Amino acid sequence: MLHVLNHPLGAHILTHLRDRTTKPATFRTLAYQVGLLLALEATRDLATKDHIIDTPLEKVTSLVLARPLAIIPILRAGLGMVQPFTDLFPDVSVGYVGLERDHVTAVARSYYQKLPPLADKRVIVVDPMLATGGSAVQALDVLRAEGATELFFACIVASPEGVRVVEAAHPDVPIFTAALDRELNAKKYILPGLGDFGDRLYGT
Ligand code: PRP
Ligand code: URA
Repeated sequence: MLHVLNHPLGAHILTHLRDRTTKPATFRTLAYQVGLLLALEATRDLATKDHIIDTPLEKVTSLVLARPLAIIPILRAGLGMVQPFTDLFPDVSVGYVGLERDHVTAVARSYYQKLPPLADKRVIVVDPMLATGGSAVQALDVLRAEGATELFFACIVASPEGVRVVEAAHPDVPIFTAALDRELNAKKYILPGLGDFGDRLYGT
């Protein structure tokens, strides 16, 4: 269920996201661009239904999207992946789950939640960094409890440990990532990674 982006542009963008000299304004643009690639991958198999229209020349049965989409960024860094989805899917619903990792234990604490109805939708959780997997699993648990039945997870950098933890807790959830990195360090940061995504996105 792990899908690693395989696109030369994705690799190019990641190089500049990882570069410590990249400034927040450029970092935000790069996050948007790789978010577009991930949004396309995570929706490649969306259901469609017939829709009859008149072209200027004749009537034709064509296709439109059949199932509504919801995107749930994990605050705060997940906000950097929202606009690609709202630009591509204007009817998308957006909900929020606020989680923050404790700096010492790396365990995530919940501080905010605001969700649209989820039952009839493809629900894509977005969070750029999948490190220990604790934040992702907490968010997926919440969304399942709130009625989500079709859950996806999209991130920019994943660790092997994080992938294993999400797969163990939510084996039916496809994971889309732009990169699968080597490991976590002692402070549970991803190596080689790109540092603290939220801090680099917002210049904090
Ligand atoms: C970061 C990141 C993820 C989480 C990943 O958020 O955006 O949410 O860590 O780590 P995990 O897989 O070990 O749970 P952080 O807690 O730093 O908050 P922020 O988004 O507000 O910066
Ligand atoms: N959160 C981040 O922003 N970066 C990491 O490497 C791990 C968690």
